[in-house]
Parts: sequence; structure tokens; C-alpha cells
Amino acid sequence: MDLNSISLGAIQEKTVAILGYGNQGRAQALNLRDSHVKVIVGAREGIGFQLAIKDRFLPVSFETAILKADVVMYLFPDQIIPEIYLETKKFFKPNTIIGFAHGFSYHFGGIEILESCQYFLAGSKGAGAVLRDAFERGGGLPGVYALNKENPELENLIKSYSKAIGLTGHILLKTSFQEETECDLFGEQTVLCGGLMQLMEAAFETLVENGLNPEMAFLECCYEAKTIIELWMSYGPHGLTEKISATAFYGGLTRGHRLINETIKLEMKKIFKEIRDGSFAKEWIQEVENGQPSLIKERTRLRNSKLEETYQTLARDCFIPKK
Ligand SMILES: NC(=O)c1ccc[n+]([C@@H]2O[C@H](COP(=O)([O-])OP(=O)(O)OC[C@H]3O[C@@H](n4cnc5c(N)ncnc54)[C@H](OP(=O)(O)O)[C@@H]3O)[C@@H](O)[C@H]2O)c1
Repeated sequence: MDLNSISLGAIQEKTVAILGYGNQGRAQALNLRDSHVKVIVGAREGIGFQLAIKDRFLPVSFETAILKADVVMYLFPDQIIPEIYLETKKFFKPNTIIGFAHGFSYHFGGIEILESCQYFLAGSKGAGAVLRDAFERGGGLPGVYALNKENPELENLIKSYSKAIGLTGHILLKTSFQEETECDLFGEQTVLCGGLMQLMEAAFETLVENGLNPEMAFLECCYEAKTIIELWMSYGPHGLTEKISATAFYGGLTRGHRLINETIKLEMKKIFKEIRDGSFAKEWIQEVENGQPSLIKERTRLRNSKLEETYQTLARDCFIPKK
């Protein structure tokens, strides 16, 4: 797709309601405004509401925002979207265009799809703060979009919306609600928030349990993960092999497969199956209904962990940028 051929004109003719002023809501609202798109922020009275005022928006109720808008974005935590959608769908006009940044609630049936409305998703491959930062530097992030029914006019509008929020920095891929949801959940669970985090922690613990200095263990097993990923992205899997020492290459080659082997692949297949058949979604909704006890327990464990203690020491005293 030629990103330069996408025009901002289509979205500049519309009024966009950004509901929720958190990670994505703030980034999208600010980027839209800087792209000369008419934006109304809808927020409850809380942290986001106050932040929107600080950013020179005049936040209003969800009702007021929806009634004034042609495009309504639901930018809340995924587990909250169905509840807010249920309370607010009565304010849609015929032909209201409804957007999400992730397909979870749409794909797993958390919301009622109205025949009179059109639905899309426009999601960034990166957090809201990173999106805003890239946009302010004149670029953007890779993005994906999907629409619920093929419609060239709607597709043109979604591309225009995507450009306005900074999704056209490098690549804008067309996907489906199902593919985006499955890919996103699988990536989070097996690599980004599951595999990688637990791999770093297990390696850190192994060195510390063997009597090595925790700060040395942290720099090696956690901090260097950041630098190796940057190298991998800059030079590719083959190019990386020229940038690391032969000892590192040989050690990884002969030991890596002992960790990441067929058993792990089988487990990945099971994880994917749980995503596809909806059992993960069901489990997560149940966790939310129970007050998120697993998340609370894990946050407490991490807050009191040696890994966190070491991170805090290094972040305070050294070079790790603290967010
Ligand atoms: N994290 C990212 O940058 C990222 C990246 C890609 C896609 N996404 C997708 O973007 C969407 C938004 O995620 P996010 O991370 O931006 O969410 P978030 O930062 O957690 O969203 C917080 C916003 O939701 C509001 N909110 C929370 N509970 C509410 C309730 N019960 N009633 C009314 N408002 C409520 C908050 O209000 P208060 O300020 O008053 O608490 C705040 O405005 C999700 O679909 C997510 O999957 C996120």
C-alpha cells in the first residue's frame, strides 16, 4: 500500500469522539488534533478527564460526545468496553461509525453489532505513548486496520483516520477483527508479556541462586535483552550473527534449542487453540468478574521480588530510563 496516497481529507470532514483518555485515547486525540481533525473527548470525571483539560480539550460526557460525532472510538480497557458500549449504544445515530484499537470485544461477542452502524479497528503496533512520541517526531508506528463489512468509502475513511493518528509511519496492514485479535493475544501471551518476561526472570533467578551478583545478573539477562532486540530489528536474524561474538553465537546455537524446543512449540499450539476457541477470553472475563485476583497477586509478588529490587537500584543509580 502506498502510504503517501492516503489523504487526510476524508477524516477531516468528520467529527471524531474519543471515548476514554488513557494510553490510546490521549495519543489518538492529540494526533488527530495535530492532523486538523475535529475531536471531542468523552471521559468520566477522573484522571483522564483532568489530563484532557491539561491538554486543552474540553471533555464532555460519553452521551454528549457520541451525539455530536460521526466516528466514535471506544478506547477503554478491553474488559470494560462491553459494559460502556451497552450503556451508550442508545446514543448512536444511523450510520454512526464505531471504532476500536483492538478487536477483543468485537470478535468475542462482547458487544451487540447493530445493522445501522459500521465498525472498524485501527490499532498501533506499540503503546499510546510511543505512538504519540513517534508522531511528534514527524513519523508514526506500524498499524493495522479492519472493517466489519467491505465498503470502499468506509475503507478510505479508516485509512484516513489511521494516517491522522500516526499509523502510517512505516506500514499499514489490512487485517480482520479475528486475525488482529488472535495475533495480538498470541504475541502478548507467548512473547511480549509471557515468554520474554518469564524467560528474563527465570534466567536472573538462576544466576542469583548460583551466588552471582543480582546487578550483574540483571544487566546480562534483562538489560541486554533490549539491546539484542534492537540489533535484531536493525540487522535481521542473519545480520545479527555478524554483530555478536562467535562465542555468543555458538552458545546460543547449541543451548537455545534446549530451551525452545518441540515441547514449547506444542504448548504454543495449545495456547493458540485456547485463543481461537474462546476459552482464554472466557477465562479472562471470569477473572475480571472475580475482581482480577490473579493480577493483584502477581503485582504484589513482583513488587516484592529481588528482580524489582535490583531494577529499582539500577534505575535510580544508573542509566535505565524510568517511565
Ligand atoms: N496500551 C496501549 O497503548 C494500547 C496499544 C494498542 C492497543 N490498545 C487498545 O486500546 C484500547 C484502550 O487501551 P488503553 O491501554 O489505552 O486503556 P487505558 O489506558 O487503561 O484506558 C483508560 C481510560 O479508560 C477509562 N476508564 C476505565 N474504566 C472506566 C469505567 N469503568 N468507566 C469509564 N471510563 C473508564 C479511564 O478513565 P480514568 O482516567 O478516569 O481512570 C481512562 O480514560 C484497548 O482496546 C487496548 O487493547 C492499547
